[in-house]
Amino acid sequence: MTQDKITVPALRARKATRLRGERIAMVTAYDATFARMMDQAGVDAMLVGDSLGMVIQGQSSTLPVTLDEIIYHSRAVVRGTRRAHVIGDMPFLSYQTALDAALSNAGRLIKEGGVESVKLEGGREIAETIYRMVRMGIPVVAHVGLMPQRVHAMGGFKVQGRNGDDAESILEDAIAVSQAGAFLVVVEGVPADLGAKITRSIDVPTIGIGAGVECDGQVLVSYDLLGLNDTLKPKFVKRYDELFARGIEATKAYVSEVRSGAFPAAEHSFGLQKSAGSAGSVAAPTVAASAEPDAVPVTEAHAYGPTQ
Ligand code: KIV
Repeated sequence: MTQDKITVPALRARKATRLRGERIAMVTAYDATFARMMDQAGVDAMLVGDSLGMVIQGQSSTLPVTLDEIIYHSRAVVRGTRRAHVIGDMPFLSYQTALDAALSNAGRLIKEGGVESVKLEGGREIAETIYRMVRMGIPVVAHVGLMPQRVHAMGGFKVQGRNGDDAESILEDAIAVSQAGAFLVVVEGVPADLGAKITRSIDVPTIGIGAGVECDGQVLVSYDLLGLNDTLKPKFVKRYDELFARGIEATKAYVSEVRSGAFPAAEHSFGLQKSAGSAGSVAAPTVAASAEPDAVPVTEAHAYGPTQ
């Protein structure tokens, strides 16, 4: 673990310091490049969410995502992350059917995926599972309110807790999972007042997504915040850029330059190695422009083609 790694106790302690500008900033990540970008931007925690079913796989819900897929993406995110805490999402049916299976699946996510904690959707009905995981040394993030794995039971991705009984039930869920030992509670898709009430009622940080500003932190799907999702923009999402549109423009420029022959230019082309007495030897390729001051550095670690 690096010295400035964000740990479970450090995140839990942010409950006390949130009002001093230390709310927790969490994003989802699914690969090493996004993880490096988000880590360098200073996020506190990255969730390898089962939202990858929609974002990466193009499915209409999170339900088909498997534990092996979460493990695969977790490994990539962990490789790209130095500072942020990495959470692995437990997919549908990896923890609901039997306690033993839940414990060993959570263990696989930690052991094979390399994540530092796991996230489970559910309230009172999974408090016992959370309790056992925490006692085994597996830190747990809980998830209450709108639970995407219950999309069919909820009749769609709908705001939860809008009436008194539902709101009370979600509050009781949040209290139960925090008392069972969850160190963070994600609160999704509830009225802002309920997000605030839950935040005041439990002693671990709440991480809101469509749950108002009073939560102790916020999480967004990285593709949403960067404007990479061209198909929908839910009300709770703020886009900080329009990378999908910018990506189309950049790729159009590439297509046009390939067609016209403007790309590759001389600085993107390799020259022949110049050695005394053997002009024209075709040994190892060299980058013709590598001595230019504005050449983009490519590290060996990230190279997938010749660098020199
Ligand atoms: O899977 C996911 O990305 C999530 C977040 C939206 C909280 O559960």
